[in-house]
Amino acid sequence: MFKSEVYIKRREQLHKLMKSGVALFIGNNESPFNYPANTYHFRQDSDFLYYFGIDLPGFAGVMDFDSGTDTIFGNDFDIDDIIWMGPQPTVRDLSAKCGIGNTSSMKQLEEKIQDALSKRRKVHFLPPYRGESKMILGSLLKENPCQMKTLASPDLIRAVVSMRSIKEKVEIDEIEKAVDIAYEMHVTAMKMCRQGVKEQDIFGAIEGIALSKGGGTSFPIILSINGQTLHNHAHGNTLKKEKMMVTDAGAETNLHYASDITRTTPVGGKFSAMQKDVYEVVLRANTEAIRATKPGVSNRDVHFLACRVIGEGMKELGLMKGDIDEAVAAGAHALFMPHGIGHMMGLDVHDMEALGENYVGYNSEVKRSDQFGTAFLRFALPYKPGHVFTIEPGCYFIPELIEKWKSEGKFKEFINYDKLSKFMPIGGIRIEDDVLITEKGYKVLGKPIPKTVKEIEAVCS
Ligand code: GLY
Ligand code: MN
Repeated sequence: MFKSEVYIKRREQLHKLMKSGVALFIGNNESPFNYPANTYHFRQDSDFLYYFGIDLPGFAGVMDFDSGTDTIFGNDFDIDDIIWMGPQPTVRDLSAKCGIGNTSSMKQLEEKIQDALSKRRKVHFLPPYRGESKMILGSLLKENPCQMKTLASPDLIRAVVSMRSIKEKVEIDEIEKAVDIAYEMHVTAMKMCRQGVKEQDIFGAIEGIALSKGGGTSFPIILSINGQTLHNHAHGNTLKKEKMMVTDAGAETNLHYASDITRTTPVGGKFSAMQKDVYEVVLRANTEAIRATKPGVSNRDVHFLACRVIGEGMKELGLMKGDIDEAVAAGAHALFMPHGIGHMMGLDVHDMEALGENYVGYNSEVKRSDQFGTAFLRFALPYKPGHVFTIEPGCYFIPELIEKWKSEGKFKEFINYDKLSKFMPIGGIRIEDDVLITEKGYKVLGKPIPKTVKEIEAVCS
């Protein structure tokens, strides 16, 4: 946990933003894997961690905005638990660590919420994303558990998003630690990227690094020689010459801050001329997009900048034609880059996605596009100092998408479909870094991870 002052300050700020009613934060519970006592690795809810820091299952936090009091609800472990789990802190000890003196049992939580409901006080809560939390909320609030996401409080969501979006110094330090773990993971993956090695061997090795140096991975590792599948979690291939391996992998620190890094390595560690040509285009999109980030510039502007770089690059390689600004405005570039430039990052690798992407990255003035490709942009607003983003352009040769568009004659004024077949063995290339927006510009977080052709070839040799 951070020092108690960190949590006290955050809760004080939320009291100022919310003014009235009660906010109920349900921490996560153990979730069974294949029978009740065999549970998934426990991961605390990120909002609960942000305001209370207690990293154990079975707790709830209540902030009463009218009385100005905060309470932790939880049950002390009994002797049966202690026999299996060893000595455990009391609810009082844990609460003191986040600066809360009021503690009560889970039974008293029911009474507290009943009392608030009977007085017609507003009970604010955030959208639950786990079945167990929906059941608990539904039972406490006497509502259908399936409705709990839609009944969540927009006021509380907006207040929490406004706070979590701006990272504190202690959070940035944690994210840098997470990137430094990702450095070890990616350099290891590059060194192992040789003909005959199994994807699963590399996957296991780098997952092990995330576990040995922090809290494990921040999302399931994407590692494949079929990088044209954007989120490829299958690791069954053996590496072959002429393929490129996309590794999209990040770590969580022990305090659960994330990193999210992607590198693409040619099998055998030496780029062919064609691999280098496409790689340099993606690298240019990555570095130019990063250089453009500063307060006031929007993530949507940076997204389109990267799309234009990809489009111009495809034109230089003979794969696109015509006016690239027009092609990007029409959405033709999305054949090659059908995703957004990046997302916020913090306690969640897609930070606050559970609160609703449109609350995080859009507002009443900036609406989400419905154009293929741009619709997947998770954040379109201007940057502010303290934001942490990923910048992750890519270029993919997706056979099914190419086939579909070609058969429909889609954007044939911008795309040279007959030239694409030669490039299919590339699969996909993505290059992703984690960037802090500073007062004047940006800072790429963590120890720089090899990404130029020269740097990658040097690591692999
Ligand atoms: N690293 C996976 C993603 O950003 O979706
Ligand atoms: Mn990412």
